[in-house]
Amino acid sequence: MSDDLFYLPVKIGDVELKNPFIVASGPTVKRTDQMELAEKCGWGAASIKQAFNPFPYINYQPRYRWLKKEKLHTFTAEYRLDYEAGLRLVEDAKKKIKDMVIFANYSYVEEGLEGWQKSAKGFEAAGADILELNFCCPNMSFNVDVHSQPSEGERPSSGASMGQDADAVRDVVKATREVTDLPIIAKITPEGGEIAKVAKAAYDAGANAVCGVANRLGIAPVDIWNYKRSIYPLQGENTMGCLSGPWLLPLALRDVYEIRNLNGPEPHVIGTGGIARWQDAVQMIMCGADTIGVCTKTMTSGYGFLEKWMKSIKDYMEKMGFKSARDMRDLLLKEIATAADLTVWAGYAQVDPEKCNACGLCVEVGQCNAIILTDAAAEISAELCQGCHTCIDICPKNAIDMVDEKAAE
Ligand SMILES: Cc1cc2nc3c(=O)[nH]c(=O)nc-3n(C[C@H](O)[C@H](O)[C@H](O)COP(=O)(O)O)c2cc1C
Repeated sequence: MSDDLFYLPVKIGDVELKNPFIVASGPTVKRTDQMELAEKCGWGAASIKQAFNPFPYINYQPRYRWLKKEKLHTFTAEYRLDYEAGLRLVEDAKKKIKDMVIFANYSYVEEGLEGWQKSAKGFEAAGADILELNFCCPNMSFNVDVHSQPSEGERPSSGASMGQDADAVRDVVKATREVTDLPIIAKITPEGGEIAKVAKAAYDAGANAVCGVANRLGIAPVDIWNYKRSIYPLQGENTMGCLSGPWLLPLALRDVYEIRNLNGPEPHVIGTGGIARWQDAVQMIMCGADTIGVCTKTMTSGYGFLEKWMKSIKDYMEKMGFKSARDMRDLLLKEIATAADLTVWAGYAQVDPEKCNACGLCVEVGQCNAIILTDAAAEISAELCQGCHTCIDICPKNAIDMVDEKAAE
């Protein structure tokens, strides 16, 4: 391993990233100065804010909410680049960035494939290292679709509506492959429940990588006393929110796991969604990701945390005997058992009367009839205990633990 802290190389097609960390497309990659800072902080790649061709139909100033308690970021109206602005950004960034790989993240939002091809050629000429085709944005036609079934003649399918359709993704990737030799990433969506099959269509058509996932469309928490007004500070109306951040991680891990399982060890997978700690990135790699996209965490914390992450990951790798990111990849594929294959262990919970303060919280557990409260402490009947673990999780005194009968044998 090189002494350079940030060196943990990985390739997408022929293009080498110095490490697997990508500033995922979003508001922290819409200006060159942001990308210069990201490069200084050691990031392997940055994917520019989505550029639209033709001009986007929802394009307001951004209004964001970061709900710390819920670990959830939400927004609807997001500033976007038009195609020309996207080209200029890539051109300018390429003049100033030496070491960091630049992805052009874009969509074409009218019917037909020629527009996609023209965009690909334009971004290649502008100097993009890699093309990232956006089949994931929930805030394009998908936002409209979930309110009402699209009728004939309405806006063409785009973003997350298009990304559910394996044939449409295949056609666009194939048409793009015909006009460029640059590596192609298809950034796809779990909406529709077929993400692994859509990934396969993209790889079959010539994509070098698939990225899952982007934001999920949902209804962000509302203020029930002012339910006619949005929780967005600047936005008066209620809308569906594009949700991202740590709450998304378990779902994103599953999506990457499914993509890797169906498509085998060869193709490149970019795991994105909810990565907010170095340990999240390691789990994502273990579920099958080669590289890691991070957006929300860069919005709330900038780019500088990567140094700590790299130190921690390198320490971890040394302790675990991993020499490359590839050594960690897929480790969970064999470990995750189906529900049918799981071993069911016998056991029960027991109270440590020294620690218990008889607060009675555990007696309230709705599914349990095994716990009674005496004046001094809670008592658990081993016979009635179903081993659900809820009392252990809610006990404020950490006074309960499990007796594993197999281990005790
Ligand atoms: C405000 C905002 C804007 C985004 N814009 C884009 C975009 O233009 N293109 C894109 O492919 N993804 C976009 N994303 C999705 C992110 O790149 C990422 O896939 C998603 O937020 C999940 O990752 P995270 O939990 O690390 O944020 C955006 C996300 C946010 C929060």
